[in-house]
Amino acid sequence: MKFHVQTWGCQMNDHDGEKLSGLLSAEGFEAVDSVDEADLVLLNTCSIREKAVHKVYSELGRLREEKQRRPLMVGVTGCLAQQEKAALFKRAPHVDFVLGTMALKQLPRLVAEVQAGKARVMDTTEYPDNHLFPPTVTRRRDTAKALVTITEGCNHACTYCIVPTTRGTERHRPCEDVLAEVRSLVAGGYREVELLGQNVNSYAGGCTFGDLLERVSEVEGLEWLRFTTSHPMNFTKELARVLVTNPKVVPFLHLPLQSGSDKVLKRMLREYTVAEYLERLGYLGEGRSRMTLSTDFIVGFPGETDEDFEDTLRVLDEVAFDGSFSFIYSPRPGTPALRLKDDLPMATKSERLRRLQRRQAVLTQASNERFLGREIPVRIETHGPTEHGWWLAHSSEWKTIHLAVGPGRELPFGELVQARITQASPHFLGAELV
Ligand code: 5AD
Ligand code: SF4
Repeated sequence: MKFHVQTWGCQMNDHDGEKLSGLLSAEGFEAVDSVDEADLVLLNTCSIREKAVHKVYSELGRLREEKQRRPLMVGVTGCLAQQEKAALFKRAPHVDFVLGTMALKQLPRLVAEVQAGKARVMDTTEYPDNHLFPPTVTRRRDTAKALVTITEGCNHACTYCIVPTTRGTERHRPCEDVLAEVRSLVAGGYREVELLGQNVNSYAGGCTFGDLLERVSEVEGLEWLRFTTSHPMNFTKELARVLVTNPKVVPFLHLPLQSGSDKVLKRMLREYTVAEYLERLGYLGEGRSRMTLSTDFIVGFPGETDEDFEDTLRVLDEVAFDGSFSFIYSPRPGTPALRLKDDLPMATKSERLRRLQRRQAVLTQASNERFLGREIPVRIETHGPTEHGWWLAHSSEWKTIHLAVGPGRELPFGELVQARITQASPHFLGAELV
């Protein structure tokens, strides 16, 4: 049996894909790189916005045709599976099984049931121990940075967000489990780890998140430690202190703001005002100047006026975020924001998104230009030059680096090398090997 896992969405989903691959490999199945070679295709889906859902259904359409030509098992997992449950079979009758986000370990059983001739197999139970996944089973992709789950689920209730529905309430891995996994990853050669959770800084697995960072950073051989993602209201002074003082915790913070208008934030149920958000950033003190900050914005939230949007632009400028991800509000099934009147024309929303992104490009360009001429360590993330001739790397601040290397030169995958930054664009930094 050959399988192919196709993943969309966030790092948590990426990492779930690695866990699912591990479960199938443990059954003796063989991983393959394309749908064409596979007997089993597992779509590991995202449903954060309508666009992500479209992608899944269009891939399912393609698989239906494929299935008419040859025997093929099709499974759907991830957030869309958890959200739609049995309704998925209605819309896509050729799906053989549906596996929820909190039932990962049931995958081999579901596959066996389909193999035994059962149709429309499903498990979307919210198993309370889903987060206690055995790390030895996980089959990691060939990346320089290892992903490690520390918490699953979210206890916030942002009115636009499907995640509390698709990922459940918070569950935390015990601190010792996290440490043991990181130790074994480092023993296996990893130098960089990213701790994952829908909201890592509410971590409560026997210590605080700040403590967890300190303890993980003590693992000998680990060079860089990062984490994603955080809710501003759980961003504590203690965490800020660790961020600016611990040399292994990278100087990068992604802290989603969503909007620069208090009225909009209130309707989003974000639990903070702009002033409170800025106060939290202030916890970083003068250490902030050494960090890069990124954020998320939603534009065109129901009732967002021109003034509200101008407020967002103003905060964007005031903070001068080094980078941001911005999206047009997408109504999600079953979320409270669906009840809000949403009468803004799509053209207005698109124009707002364009303006915000143009402004961000200028800020990102300025942020990148600050690196010009500097010599910094960067981690090699490819095994050779890309088709364009440069090697791909990242800096500790999570800047994308295109590294020019003389022909015939070999660089150590996953290791740090010194690079001199020679070029700044809004999307990457050009660099040469020192
Ligand atoms: N519509 C648009 N963007 C959304 N996000 C979450 N839910 C929605 C939605 N319904 C964005 C938020 C979040 C990021 C991961 O995705 O900005 O921080
Ligand atoms: Fe969604 Fe809010 Fe949880 Fe983030 S913190 S996942 S935006 S509910």
